Amino acid sequence: MHPFRRTLTHLLQARFPLLYVEAFEEQRVLDEIAATVAELESPRALWHWSTTDGMRRSGGLPERNTHDPAQLLPRVRRIGEEAVFVFSDLHAFLGDGTRPADLHVVRALRDLVRDFRSGHLARTAIIVAPILRIPPELQKDVTVVDFALPDEPAIRGLLDGMISEQQDTVTVTLDDHGRDRLIRAALGMTLFEAEKAFALAMVDGSSLTESDAEVVLTEKAQSIRKSGLLELVRTEVNLGDVGGLGELKAWLEKRRDFWLAEAVAYGLPAPKGVLITGVPGCGKTLTAKAVAAAWGLPLIRLDLGRVFVGPSGASDHNMRAALATAETSAPCVLWVDEIDNPFADADASGGTDTSARVFGTFLTWLQEKTRPVFVIATANSVENLPPDFLRKGRFDEIFFVDLPRASEREAIWRLHLARRRTGPAAGLDITPTLLHDLARDTEGFSGTEIEQALVAGLFDAYSARRPLDAADLFHSVANTVPLSALHGDQITAWREWAKPRAVPASRMEFPDDDPRTRGR
Ligand SMILES: Nc1ncnc2c1ncn2[C@@H]1O[C@H](COP(=O)(O)OP(=O)(O)O)[C@@H](O)[C@H]1O
Ligand SMILES: [Mg+2]
Repeated sequence: MHPFRRTLTHLLQARFPLLYVEAFEEQRVLDEIAATVAELESPRALWHWSTTDGMRRSGGLPERNTHDPAQLLPRVRRIGEEAVFVFSDLHAFLGDGTRPADLHVVRALRDLVRDFRSGHLARTAIIVAPILRIPPELQKDVTVVDFALPDEPAIRGLLDGMISEQQDTVTVTLDDHGRDRLIRAALGMTLFEAEKAFALAMVDGSSLTESDAEVVLTEKAQSIRKSGLLELVRTEVNLGDVGGLGELKAWLEKRRDFWLAEAVAYGLPAPKGVLITGVPGCGKTLTAKAVAAAWGLPLIRLDLGRVFVGPSGASDHNMRAALATAETSAPCVLWVDEIDNPFADADASGGTDTSARVFGTFLTWLQEKTRPVFVIATANSVENLPPDFLRKGRFDEIFFVDLPRASEREAIWRLHLARRRTGPAAGLDITPTLLHDLARDTEGFSGTEIEQALVAGLFDAYSARRPLDAADLFHSVANTVPLSALHGDQITAWREWAKPRAVPASRMEFPDDDPRTRGR
């Protein structure tokens, strides 16, 4: 049985007076409730209320004068039969961050709960709403029931059904692998959205192939964005675009394919995630973006700015909703950029208490989650992070990204010059000596600063309408004062912080004749 039906059956049998189902898919919830009620051992009537139709017994006509909830609820209390009452628009009267709840409605609901609880008839009211709004007066009376987004078998059933319906009009060339990809691409959507996405993919070219996963992903990007908390990021960046950071890249490389059944069968625990801290501009965000592409998984960004809006209770709820949505998209990479921000900016996030509580939810989830969601979080000002983040059992590893060493600066120069190879840097001979000298002259530069120096050089060359040459680069480097020169103390402080807590993201560099170099 569908888990929702099972839970609902139990709650109805146990005569819970007031349930709250939070779901975007109202129709699907109503259908599921109807199906559940129909299968109850002791039969109950089903009533439905919306602001447009008022109150209506299943199969009957709308009752007069029941549009207004203040009239509705007392009427419901007088209906003397065993029944389930479903309310569609009631959340609109229960207040939100900007508006208090309607006092009459809250009182009428409490009276209703009292009646339902003490009466001998089996009666339950169910509020169905796209968002959770429970005024404090009702907290103890309401039982929240999860209505999960469709799982893999449900999406598979939908796709199979659509394929057999469209047999005559759509050519389907899908092997098992292609079918899996399409289904995975649709995880995280409502059934309705998935149906729309599959339909689009079928219309497009009157065929359905593995490459239609892209169509579905584009649709999913939209549906995820609608939640307002998560964003599906499409990026071409790969781990090869990250210069240096060898230890971090190797660590990530080993965890590729962690979500495959093979890895599970091998006995590997699913990795939870990684926290990348360190000096700004040195590739933390870049690496985060690159991982998903390298692993061929969707990259989902959690927008903390949006989690922390509205009253503090809303932030909790937002965080839980975001994590639930991310889970339905598994396997995926969940990216939380600058996770330290809410702690630094306590005002904007409604105080440090709120931040700590909301991240408590996050960390507990991180520790307990079973779905293959790999979390990659970045942080600049690590000293703001509560110690809880650093406890064992949370992130699998904490890395510290330092200013790039000489060989890393060479790599960064090489990457960024190569990227302009087909354009303005076409004539430039990128020799080992040039890279060596550029790296030597950019000691203390971050990756961003190297890139910016390159861009400044390009502007010089462009303004004179000539191709880039090495002198432009050395000139702009000489004119750059890296942040590390201004904020040396800050960087030292971060290094001190990191020493006992984090693993260096880069390999140590020793002279060639040093015994420690052997085996590297
Ligand atoms: N290690 C690196 N390799 C290549 N480019 C880098 C590297 N570090 C920084 N950059 C360049 O600087 C930009 C900003 O880096 P970013 O990853 O956003 O820094 P942060 O560590 O502050 O998140 C990148 O988009 C990239 O162009
Ligand atoms: Mg960043």
